[in-house]
Amino acid sequence: MSRLVVLSNRLPQAGRTAQAGGLAVALADALRPGSLWFGWSGRISTDTSLQSHDERGVTHVTFNLSEAAYRGYYTGFSNNTLYPLLLFRLGLMRFRADEFMCYEAVNNEFASGVLPLLRDDDLIWIHDYHLMLVPAALRAAGKRQRIGFFFHTPFPPPEIFGVMPRARTLLNGVCGADVIGFQTASDRDGFLASATSMLGVRVDRENRFFYAGREVRTLVCPVGIDADDFARTARDASRRLPTERLRQSLHGAALLFGADRLDHAKGLPQRVDAYDLLLSRYPEHRRAVCFLQVAAPSREEVAEYRRLRRELDERVGDLNGRHGEADWIPLRYITRATPRTTIAGFYRLARVGVITPLRDGFGLGAAEFVAAQDPGDPGVLVLSRFAGAAATLDGAILVNPFDSEAIAEALHVALTMPADERLARHERLLDRVRAQSAADHARRFLDALAGVGAQVEELSSV
Ligand code: G6P
Repeated sequence: MSRLVVLSNRLPQAGRTAQAGGLAVALADALRPGSLWFGWSGRISTDTSLQSHDERGVTHVTFNLSEAAYRGYYTGFSNNTLYPLLLFRLGLMRFRADEFMCYEAVNNEFASGVLPLLRDDDLIWIHDYHLMLVPAALRAAGKRQRIGFFFHTPFPPPEIFGVMPRARTLLNGVCGADVIGFQTASDRDGFLASATSMLGVRVDRENRFFYAGREVRTLVCPVGIDADDFARTARDASRRLPTERLRQSLHGAALLFGADRLDHAKGLPQRVDAYDLLLSRYPEHRRAVCFLQVAAPSREEVAEYRRLRRELDERVGDLNGRHGEADWIPLRYITRATPRTTIAGFYRLARVGVITPLRDGFGLGAAEFVAAQDPGDPGVLVLSRFAGAAATLDGAILVNPFDSEAIAEALHVALTMPADERLARHERLLDRVRAQSAADHARRFLDALAGVGAQVEELSSV
């Protein structure tokens, strides 16, 4: 059997159990013993040599980034240019040619670093926007292994993607892969339209095309979670101290809960506004509800993230000042990373899960909220129409995350929903979350990738 080699920007730091992004969660569930995981250690140092260690049978090979690479490749081009662009936030994109050159250099280092570790029949799976040039760099080095690439973020149409000065180079880089995976059909459409208009490829009915003498396949294959495992985690966590203390502190109030990275794509200011409107319009909820928002700090070197943090500090303070009472704080706000197990317990306790990103690749929190519920007395999911999860999670109340008034109405509907409707919606949601596991995601993607080998063999045996 082929060995799986995964490349991603960052590997989880040993011993850190705090909440990470969706990619780390999806991969942790998918990597099997015997695989190799290659990427940045998450540390900055002048020593950038490769380090290897074993974690539950998976070989982790990591390296540190130099200060310059961190600034140019990670903070600069990846998170100041590409990420806002892929999340449809053109106004936040800032392009600097020197940062692109640094991104190119680090992508080449990823390729040259992993090269000597590769075996001929490896399946190479590259993840996310930080590494768009790696597939072509591996091809340029003569590597013929099967290479897959998966976008965890959305992919916008060419009218947005094409605005970025090096868009064509990036598309060319990804097209070194044999299989390119997306969270939703509209992400795939955006990519194919971009490749058509910028690389001049002709896409066939099966969403494949030829580029640089090779066939490139595309696949819609959303990420998922292990629902039963997460449900167990949530059940256990709900009996432990953090959830128990939260429960007691609520004095019977209904909990609305959101857990996100503190990121401009998560729609946090609009969410705070929506809750503010809810309390003004429906005074019956005063003292009867409490909103807990966990916002794990993220990418704090990027100016927009620091600005957002200040804005939220202000809005949260303002809301609590106007609506709060001596013995009732309507909005509790935590800007510290929180372990996933603790989050699981909070999800279980929540009457309403509030997942309203302005745009999100998938939004794994939505699946986690559903899995964590008590099936006999479930809470209600209020979900952004622009999260990838909305394409599959039938049973949520869908909202436009830019429309705080609509979110406020949805929160009211969720808080007052009769038990039979809650049960019916949750049943549908849980079916979907169960049917779309992390293991299925990996299996579907890797089956498609392994199928490429079969095609090569068929052709060569003719
Ligand atoms: C998003 C990206 C992932 C990334 C995660 C955490 O979900 O799609 O690739 O791992 O954010 O981002 P960070 O910058 O903290 O590694």
